[in-house]
Amino acid sequence: MGADLDALAHTILKDNDLGGYTIPTKGLYPYQWNWDSVFVAIGFATFDLNRAWQEIENLFEGQWDDGMVPHILFRKNDPSYFPGPSVWGTKSEPFPTSGHSQPPVAATAVRDLFEQSSAPENADRAKALFPKLMAWHRWWATCRDPKGHGTVAIVHPWESGRDNLPDWDEPLSNVDTTGVPEYTRKDTSHVDPDMRPLKKDYDRYMAILAIGKACGWDAAEVVEKTPFLVADPAITMILLRANRDLLVLADKLGFQNDKAEIEGWIAKQERGMDSLWNPEIKAYVTRNLRTDVLGTGVSSASFLASYAGLSDPKVIEPLNAHFDRIAGKVDFMLPSYDPDHAGFEHKRYWRGPIWAVVNYLAARGMTEAGEVARAEKIRQDTVRLVERSGFAEYFSPVDGSGAGGNSFSWTAAVWLAWATPSLAVNKAA
Ligand code: GLC
Repeated sequence: MGADLDALAHTILKDNDLGGYTIPTKGLYPYQWNWDSVFVAIGFATFDLNRAWQEIENLFEGQWDDGMVPHILFRKNDPSYFPGPSVWGTKSEPFPTSGHSQPPVAATAVRDLFEQSSAPENADRAKALFPKLMAWHRWWATCRDPKGHGTVAIVHPWESGRDNLPDWDEPLSNVDTTGVPEYTRKDTSHVDPDMRPLKKDYDRYMAILAIGKACGWDAAEVVEKTPFLVADPAITMILLRANRDLLVLADKLGFQNDKAEIEGWIAKQERGMDSLWNPEIKAYVTRNLRTDVLGTGVSSASFLASYAGLSDPKVIEPLNAHFDRIAGKVDFMLPSYDPDHAGFEHKRYWRGPIWAVVNYLAARGMTEAGEVARAEKIRQDTVRLVERSGFAEYFSPVDGSGAGGNSFSWTAAVWLAWATPSLAVNKAA
């Protein structure tokens, strides 16, 4: 079973490889996506290190002059996707892109690739990427945290990578959709509409996008004018972790002069995370920076605390209690949202389903922190999900069924890099 699935995972990555860059899945997502490509790289690294580097190098071909690395790279027009390049209207070179970013997992993956081989060429590739990673992380620390809170604010739900989270409902309710012109969605022609966002939410996504476009996607102007500005614990923790890895890279690759700046970001973001702790529910949540309203649900973001290097028992103990409560409630971990919350829907996009990539990040952090049993529960549940439903985009935590797209690149990639029982480190488990 494991070996067959390994072979299938290889095939998926190869089939979705359009020549140096990989799409998430055919049909639904026909372009290069930011954090998808980084996970794909760690999958490729299990059998082709050169191809892994290439995936990340190609992602950075889309980097903007201000340091931002966009969430979608429109390398060639594909009318099967909406909203495509003309709707975004960015002026980026050498090809059009979307106008905002996605979770910065790249520095962590670059460290992984760098540490995989001591060949000089390997260090050269990491060195070439280092200044680009620095510029991107500086962009997050300044353009997405202009008031210096030590948290990352997103300007569109899509920037979070967790597009349809119930926590976006309150900030989205303040978005005026009266000027949104008629448009035709394409996502619901590829997959069951019950697994996708509602029309009222999509209208709001389009309204925010139009505001960004009217600002010419100038980062400062977008932050000033967007009605949707929300500090996101997942991105902040992913960035905090990525900054720790960037610091190690700076040290090992000889970028000593950059270390103080990175250390400054780490210290600030560690403090910033305190402002995203909701003492009532005892979890990390979103904070709407327009209204100062905190999110009310335990999302899978909270379980990235160890991944981010946060270790205060006052935080970790309540989070472990949430983990155990949720594990007693659903058959498979980690649901993207609390099954005890009114906003939970087990098959609708980011309102309950499980993403294998989030499982990987959370379990990796827990393993590093010595929470081995919970990490192993997450991995074994991921194995059961893939055995039951294949390499789906996401999975129901209730019945394990697959949802969204199929033959999904990042699900295949984290299978190869982390979940598969054929990995030496998993064989004993
Ligand atoms: C969806 C997800 C996002 C992902 C993209 C491609 O938009 O919410 O996180 O990057 O699909 O897989």
